Amino acid sequence: MVTQNIESIDLSVRLGSLRLANPLMTASGTSGYGPELTSFIDLRKNLGAFVTKSVTVEPRKGNPPPRTVETSGGMLNAIGLANVGLERFVAEKTPFFEELNIPVIVNVAGHSIDEYVTVCCRLDSIDCVNGLELNVSCPNVSDGLEFGTDPVRLGELVATVRREVSNSLLIVKLSPNVTDIVTTARAAIESGADCLSMINTLQGMAINADSRRAILANTCGGLSGPAIKPVALAMVWKVYNRVAREAKVPIIGMGGIATWRDAVEFHLAGATALAVGTTLFVDPEAPAKILGGLRDYLDCNGISSVSELIGQVETR
Ligand SMILES: Cc1cc2nc3c(=O)[nH]c(=O)nc-3n(C[C@H](O)[C@H](O)[C@H](O)COP(=O)(O)O)c2cc1C
Repeated sequence: MVTQNIESIDLSVRLGSLRLANPLMTASGTSGYGPELTSFIDLRKNLGAFVTKSVTVEPRKGNPPPRTVETSGGMLNAIGLANVGLERFVAEKTPFFEELNIPVIVNVAGHSIDEYVTVCCRLDSIDCVNGLELNVSCPNVSDGLEFGTDPVRLGELVATVRREVSNSLLIVKLSPNVTDIVTTARAAIESGADCLSMINTLQGMAINADSRRAILANTCGGLSGPAIKPVALAMVWKVYNRVAREAKVPIIGMGGIATWRDAVEFHLAGATALAVGTTLFVDPEAPAKILGGLRDYLDCNGISSVSELIGQVETR
């Protein structure tokens, strides 16, 4: 076993203009607006950044219950973007971020380009907001299709928001519900994304054989958790190698990260930073454990900086 001074191991990573003290962040929608997690872990010590749930222009109640269900190795959710809306978010939720002392990324959703622009413009002027993550898995009111599944529509959205955002890191969160995620990744990058995050949930459904009914009130929902990890790893690896590395656009990897081994695997596939989502419902202290394990892994392998792992998987 190689050992070095464990304190000297550099866990920091860079996402464009943002420096994170460590690569771990929350995945949008899995720990509310921040205070929900503070009784379990010290956010400042264990997270490189905090990512909020999606914020829309107007408040939204979301879908009727049941809107979550456990599945083999994961869960389905059809929350429907429930949130307090832009103005209450700014008035009631941002004071917490001012005291947090780690970068804050606000996830933004909308049903038209104008809605995204309204939310992004307002938040870009707020000092304690460091990044804007576009949730593009939302249907466009004009044709009912998701922004994130069509490279042309996605490019138009990202290019328009790009013109309005000058202070915050602009992150585009890719949908995995596409034939070729490299095409949408390329569209996001060419339209001005500073960073990509991937993956959002995969479409799924759960049925109760006894009642013969769909379990979710919404019928279908988004699958997340360890069940989707191999899909997420393959998508991160492809996007990193085919477009992101050359464009120097960092990737925030997510999809089933539960242990330090998962974290290492996502780095090796090409992720610079990592988000933990569904695992927080099982173990809200998981980020602290993942971070400790990652540090020990680097120490045991004589690696002085976590950045040295990025994209280093050997393929046959
Ligand atoms: C209950 C729940 C709510 C979510 N809400 C959002 C959301 O509001 N916006 C968003 O972009 N992604 C949302 N996601 C997707 C996660 O941020 C993440 O992309 C996905 O769950 C994969 O990561 P995981 O397997 O670690 O959970 C949600 C996921 C879950 C499980």
